[in-house]
Amino acid sequence: MGIRIIGTGSYVPDQILTNRDLERMVETSDAWIRERTGIGSRRITEAGTTDMAVKAAKRAAEQAGIFPEELDLIIVGTSTGDCLFPGTACEVQAAIGAGSAACFDLSAACSGFLFSLNTACVYLESGEYETALVIGADTLSKTVDWSDRGTCILFGDGAGAAVVRREESAGCIGPFIMKADGSRGECLKCSAVPLRNPFLDKQEDAFGYMAMNGQEVFRFAVKTVPEVMEAVLEKAGVPAEEIQYFILHQANERILSSVAKRMRQPVSKFPMNLERYGNTSGASIPILLDELNRQGKFNRGDKIVLAGFGAGLTWGATFLRW
Ligand code: ACO
Repeated sequence: MGIRIIGTGSYVPDQILTNRDLERMVETSDAWIRERTGIGSRRITEAGTTDMAVKAAKRAAEQAGIFPEELDLIIVGTSTGDCLFPGTACEVQAAIGAGSAACFDLSAACSGFLFSLNTACVYLESGEYETALVIGADTLSKTVDWSDRGTCILFGDGAGAAVVRREESAGCIGPFIMKADGSRGECLKCSAVPLRNPFLDKQEDAFGYMAMNGQEVFRFAVKTVPEVMEAVLEKAGVPAEEIQYFILHQANERILSSVAKRMRQPVSKFPMNLERYGNTSGASIPILLDELNRQGKFNRGDKIVLAGFGAGLTWGATFLRW
């Protein structure tokens, strides 16, 4: 028995926010943003996380050729659900008619899709479930202070999804490694819930925007991502040379090329779409996966590494054979 991705889907909103638009909002320039990040534009949703997640999910289910009632499990990796409860996964279940599926959200910021995929695979491997829908969806635009040029240039909205199934096949997902360092949580943080009730001395109304120490996050990423990918390759017993694609969280072109260099692998093995979408947090890996899949880039048996990193701090890598 193997576990395979049998369908992928993604959705990005129509509204485009370019670097030129940002030049009119904060003191920055298209040239600075491109040079420091590789980003040219990003998408902004008015409809929210659930709407994007549902659209991506329907496309993945359609490509997989499954009926929504066949889904046993839906996990949404998100840190920006439209409500605190119900969870986004429950809302997706209702919208697509997947009444038999167990549903929950998983909060691991930009590592959210990767951790959700790994979690789904453990349920499939247990024999308990056969078919799972894994989604990464985020609306980072609502967490960003649009007057802070240090963060607002980086982020955008979107969703991506994959249908994963246990079946007779040579495909596999895993081994994987997931890591976290909560002691460094302050370097990328967004406190969303206003604290206001009669039992608290301190009353806080203000919505806390995202705060980031960009340089520290940068250093963290270029050190830990190559390490965790090397470790997962060692666990899989596969040399880096045999990997067709390293599909990384799309945070910054400089981070990705630096990781490629440290891995001594050509940057052409590190596909990127961040020029068009910026950093879409939990959605970035599945959006890219879907784009490559629909372009016919994957062949059966291809060896691929997925790697995510983000707030928490969290990071991890997963080996998969397509
Ligand atoms: N436009 C113009 N100038 C700017 C901008 C801007 N948008 N932002 C900062 N600057 C200025 C700074 O004020 C500073 O000026 P100074 O030298 O006069 O003080 C100068 O540019 C250099 O600033 P740095 O912060 O040193 O710039 P750096 O090269 O580190 O780039 C960046 C900043 C792009 C944020 C980078 O640190 C980065 O990409 N870090 C990783 C961030 C990231 O990927 N976060 C998310 C990952 S995890 C997740 O996805 C949630």
